Amino acid sequence: MRRFEGKVAFVTGAAAGIGRATALRLATEGASVFLIDLAVEGLQETAKQCEALGAAAAHARCDVTREVEVRETMKACIERFGRLDALCNIAGIILLQHFEKITVDQFRRVLEVNLVGTFLLCQAALPHLLATRGAIVNTSSTSALAGLPYGSAYGTSKGGVSALTRTLAVEFGKQGLRCNAVNPGSIQTAMSGDGILPKDADMRLMARTMSISKPMGPEVVAGVIAMLASEDGIHINGEEIRVDGGTLA
Ligand SMILES: NC(=O)c1ccc[n+]([C@@H]2O[C@H](COP(=O)([O-])OP(=O)(O)OC[C@H]3O[C@@H](n4cnc5c(N)ncnc54)[C@H](O)[C@@H]3O)[C@@H](O)[C@H]2O)c1
Repeated sequence: MRRFEGKVAFVTGAAAGIGRATALRLATEGASVFLIDLAVEGLQETAKQCEALGAAAAHARCDVTREVEVRETMKACIERFGRLDALCNIAGIILLQHFEKITVDQFRRVLEVNLVGTFLLCQAALPHLLATRGAIVNTSSTSALAGLPYGSAYGTSKGGVSALTRTLAVEFGKQGLRCNAVNPGSIQTAMSGDGILPKDADMRLMARTMSISKPMGPEVVAGVIAMLASEDGIHINGEEIRVDGGTLA
């Protein structure tokens, strides 16, 4: 399948995990990819792997929370590749903490990266995506759909990502732009590793969020992101797709 032949995709969080898997999937399918993250070594490695698949790849260190950096990096993408067909917003952070203990600075930081970062990228990409009748795929989470204990900041940020996704879908759908999201459950990446829960977490509360499937890697999310960004998703707009093996079914 070469659904992205001649197309350009911008991928955030591309140094690792779901972002890297998505970059590789899009590159496999013929896309030229522009990759951003904070982690330069990881970015270089992803770009190298994309090029080994025959794709054109460019990368830049960019903090998704910084408006000027985001705008300049988007400009660099257009200068390099001349167009933009898909924006995949994947960069994110998690912080799980008892609600009584989370500080307002921690709460703000999670919203800043996951929600404000997604907003800034969508705004910077908008004119370029309208020009190509392109697509945005945002990364929400099952925590936007069902309460995640200790995830007051994370779940709130992802609920915002879901709402932003639907808003852009209806505001720009008539102009041919599509905006959708994925809601991954627990996926094996650095983010889901040991030690993310508070030490005294009540595991009875966590039981309801435990995956009912065998552990899965980031490729299972990348495939759904690619579908939503491609022509196969042409009539899907303002939709969220759970990628959780049925855990929340
Ligand atoms: N892994 C899971 O279980 C899971 C579940 C649901 C949703 N998600 C979401 O999927 C997305 C990808 O997560 P992942 O599991 O691949 O985690 P990851 O930690 O492997 O990747 C996240 C990437 O985002 C980058 N990043 C963080 N802050 C940034 C910033 N300010 N600017 C630019 N880049 C930044 C990191 O450097 C990292 O490379 C996130 O939005 C996450 O919330 C993950």
